[in-house]
This record gives sequence, structure tokens and C-alpha cells, in this order.
Amino acid sequence: MAHKPSDAQIEEVVEQAYALIEDSLIYYQGKAVGCTAAVTDHVAAANYTECFIRDFFPVALILLMDGKSEVVRNFLHTVARLSAREKQFKGHEITPGVMPASFSVRIDEAGAESLSPDYGDRAIGRVAPVDSMMWWAILLDLYVQYTHDHGFTQRPSIQGALQHILHLSLNTTFEVAPTLLAPDGSFMIDRRMGVDGHPLEIQTLFYGMLCSAEKYLARTSHTAEVLLVAHQRRSALLTYLRIFFWLDVRRLNEIHRYPTEELGSGSVNMLNIYPASIPDWVEDWLPDYCGYFVGNLGPGRMDFRYFAQGNLLAILFGVSTQDQTRDILNLYEKRWSDLVGVSPAKIVYPAVDGLAWELITGSDPKNVAWSYHNGGNWPVLLWPLVAAALEGGREDLAWSAFSLACRRLQRDGWPEYYDGKTGRLIGRRSNFNQVWSAAAAILSHKMLVEERRIPFCLNV
Ligand code: GLC
Repeated sequence: MAHKPSDAQIEEVVEQAYALIEDSLIYYQGKAVGCTAAVTDHVAAANYTECFIRDFFPVALILLMDGKSEVVRNFLHTVARLSAREKQFKGHEITPGVMPASFSVRIDEAGAESLSPDYGDRAIGRVAPVDSMMWWAILLDLYVQYTHDHGFTQRPSIQGALQHILHLSLNTTFEVAPTLLAPDGSFMIDRRMGVDGHPLEIQTLFYGMLCSAEKYLARTSHTAEVLLVAHQRRSALLTYLRIFFWLDVRRLNEIHRYPTEELGSGSVNMLNIYPASIPDWVEDWLPDYCGYFVGNLGPGRMDFRYFAQGNLLAILFGVSTQDQTRDILNLYEKRWSDLVGVSPAKIVYPAVDGLAWELITGSDPKNVAWSYHNGGNWPVLLWPLVAAALEGGREDLAWSAFSLACRRLQRDGWPEYYDGKTGRLIGRRSNFNQVWSAAAAILSHKMLVEERRIPFCLNV
């Protein structure tokens, strides 16, 4: 376990992180409405000067805890307005309700400001963000928890956004399971990584979003039906995730001996997963008394990779049972060097390499094995790791992760990600002054030193 830093060292880290957040704020019509993804003159990708919905989330939590809720309200309002826009392409459109991955404030020659959203129509790879509307809805709930400003949720723009989100996400056709079908790269992992289908992170966010939308969408004769469907879907999703996404040694034994080619109702292996598809690494890697939610599940397909964000959010949103929470945290303890290493924490384990890398990433050089989305270590994951560890009564793990982060993040210039099996190398193409890396350190400090907790709506 990592050596605990001194109080003075911790204070210095937090102070610097705050300075970075302060520099990152974006203003529109004189009001702070969000923050940039990174603060630097020479950004690797031009869009790091935009406000990403997912990147702003931990910053928003800090603002709420610090009593600066008006910035969060401005953000929620701004993004809700952007989501009402229609964008026409030839033969199809981006429907109202889709929230942008990011937005920026443009200033024209006459000095007039305008908002410029990216719905995936500008992003590298043209990836559509499915997670934005979910982070937005979950943040709306936290905003109300901190401020008790229920009136804000009744505004037409907020009610309209909630309705659109529910219509969009509950209207999925061509689906048998309660999970949400998503394209590749539609969340934090926003490049091709074989995470299309039913990625865990989207499912946990979907669950969190449904909790929030059910709370705040006003019940009228127009909304009664969608609210009922939302409630039923949430409950079915919860059961499905807890049973079918879960993997521990007992489940592994079941899958190892699965019957196949079963037709009709009452089948054991309804998705027809072939035992031969269990990768070799799983049996040796998965310890007794440990478990996790697999990365993806669909017809004939179980992605056995461990995805950190989805598992940690499952703990925070009450998707995991108490036993599952304990087992996920046990897994962190037993596989610390794989899942945390020296720079908390690994985004996915293990990395894909060779032919699998060619096929899964499309030979993406940024996503070579043990780098970036393909097994890199991401400082932003510190905050959900600390929060989940505290939720499961594992303060020891939370402190170990925070201590490691204190030693490296500020010294290394707040990198976006680290490379290598244990995350010893600063990412080859990593940005510096990455805002959500700094936000993760501040939030973790608030939870560990100030004993603050994030009031996620657990199983309402
Ligand atoms: C990268 C990440 C994405 C993040 C963005 C801005 O594209 O994959 O999750 O939102 O950078 O930091």
C-alpha cells in the first residue's frame, strides 16, 4: 500500500488543482457555463478547448460542494437548450434530445457570442455521444440534492429535455433485452474499441439517468405512460445487469459448462454464449471471493474485459448488490497492480494486442496495447474509485489510490492518461493540465479529508 503523503503535500496538490479548474472556466454572456477539457496553449486536439459534458461532471460536483451552484445551473440550462436543436443531414437528422459531446463559445467578427455544439458531427471518428444526456440527467439530480432548487427542474427547457431523453432512450427498437443498444465509442471511450452493443458504462449511466428522470419529470396525462415505461425498464435493467453481466468463479463455472443452441423460453444460456469464447486469461486472473460486471453482453458475445468506470458507477448508483460491491472491491485489492498500478486507475483490463488490436481498434496507433483507451491509466478514474471504495467500506483502498495520485499527478503536470501495464509512463500523446484529472484529486480530497459524500440516488 502506498505511503500516505503529508498534510502539507496534500494541500499543495489540492491548491494547484483548484488553480487549474479556475483557469478552465468558460463564459457565455458574462456567466460561467462550463469548463474546457484541458488548459494549455498547445493542445493535442483542438477540441480540448471545448466543454465536454462528461468532463465537466466532476468539476460540477466540486462547484456544488463549494456552494457555487449557479455555474452548474447555467451549465444544465445551456446544455438543455442545445439539446433542443435539430440538425439536418441529407436523409436523416439528429433528433431533439441528443445532447452534444461538447460545446464551445464562438465569437464572431462583430464580437457576438454563439454556442457551437458538437453532436459527434465534428469529433474524430464522428462518434455520437450517448452518455452526455445521462451525465446531464444525473447531474440535474445532484444539483437539486445540493440546492433544493426544485423550481429549476420545472422550467420548460428542463422538462422538455427530460421528456426527449426518455423518448429517445426508451424507444429503442430491434431489442429484446432491457439494456440500451449503443454505437462504438459513444461514451468516455470515444474511439473504436469494440465497445459497441451493450457496453457496461452506458448501462449503468442509463440506470442512473432513469432514476433521475423518474424523479423530476412532472407527472401529467402526457407523461404518465413514459414514466411507467421508465420505471419498468429500470427495474428490468437492474435485474438483468445483476444476473447476466455478473462474473465470479461460480458464474465462470456455469458459463464453462453452458448448454448451447437452446431455443425458446426457459433456456439457461439464452444469449447462446459459447464456452470456447472464454478468453484464456480469465480463469487464472479472477480470484476467489471476487467478481465484476463484464464489459458487454449480446447475442453470442460476452466481453470479459474489466471496464473500470462501468463497475465503479455500478457501485455508486446502487446497481450492484452489497455482495457484488464487496467482491468488486476485493478484486481491486487482489489485482491492485493490474487495476490501479502506480497511477490510479486502469480504464480497461486487459489490453488487446496483435490481431485482436487490428480487428478491434482498426489498427489505431493511439490505442496500442496498454495506452489510452486500450489499457491506459486515467487519473479521472480516481474519483469514482475513491467514492466506490468508501461506499463499500474500504477506506484503505481509497487512501492508497489517493496517495498514489498525490505523488504523481501534480508533479507530472496533470496528465490526461498514463501508459504501460502499471501506468508508470506519462501517456505518449497525453494532454497536460487535463481538467478532470485535477477535479478527481480535489473530489477525492473532499471525500477523504473533509469526509464529504456524493448523494447519488441509490435505488429510489
Ligand atoms: C478524450 C476522451 C473523452 C474525453 C475527451 C476530453 O476524447 O476519450 O472521454 O471526454 O478526451 O477530455
